[in-house]
Amino acid sequence: MHPTDLKTLQASEYLFKKIGLPESARINSSIILGSGLSAVTAILTSKQEIPFQSIPYFPESTVPGHPGQFVFGKIDDQYICIIQGRLHYYEGHDMQTVTLPVRILAALGTKNLIITNAAGALNEEFHPGDFVLIRDHIGLFLPNPLIDYNKKHLEPRFPDLTDAYSKRLRQIAVNCGEELGLEMKEGIYVGVSGPSYETPSEVALLKSLGADMVGMSTVPEVIVANHLSMNCLGISVITNMAAGLSQSPLHHEEVLTVSNKIQKPIGRFLRMLCRNL
Ligand code: HPA
Repeated sequence: MHPTDLKTLQASEYLFKKIGLPESARINSSIILGSGLSAVTAILTSKQEIPFQSIPYFPESTVPGHPGQFVFGKIDDQYICIIQGRLHYYEGHDMQTVTLPVRILAALGTKNLIITNAAGALNEEFHPGDFVLIRDHIGLFLPNPLIDYNKKHLEPRFPDLTDAYSKRLRQIAVNCGEELGLEMKEGIYVGVSGPSYETPSEVALLKSLGADMVGMSTVPEVIVANHLSMNCLGISVITNMAAGLSQSPLHHEEVLTVSNKIQKPIGRFLRMLCRNL
């Protein structure tokens, strides 16, 4: 186990005991599901569900479309953990709470972390329903989740993020997508705090920075996962054109409707991906 803080240690020990995994059975790959993707847990067999609020130090999830639970299960003979929902900065959590689930996944042995999210398209070649592999992110608008933390708990002090979204995992993902006949785009994700959507002028600024899609999650999780030496893969489901790029006003219900529709292909893709990791 990584040297870690007391909260992570106690929460991960609670989960490990609760699911009754044999000591030798580590979790190789874990998945965090974005808004409206909860049904993807159907890819697991022998499921056990553990709600956030039963875990020491965990707040409840407060976002519609995010049930807020750890789901443990298997794909073939691999143990997999899927987190249905996540904790967001806009819910009022500090960044250490937002990233606690990622620390727990690391403590449970996760080597490969697959992070999914719903995002608004900045790139006008993207459309609602598209499936985009994240090549890199821009996270300058949010506090860094390692502030203060790595001083007390864990080296390195200044982690490198050159390969934050693992090139090797992206290649495996592209191969899986091709095999399933799924068209996958690639792009740069910019993280913002939310919960308000962007103004059209902010959208123009984010586009000019080189970002292809915008969302309210992922960046802190990927920073912490890299600090903990996990290989990360990020996938955005485009749920809407960002503000000002289409006529319609933005609603969370629209985000949920679009991501709900593509849960089945995403599930097939994630199952094949886990089998290849
Ligand atoms: N902006 C920010 N976050 C989002 C969006 C958006 O347009 N769509 C889904 N999450």
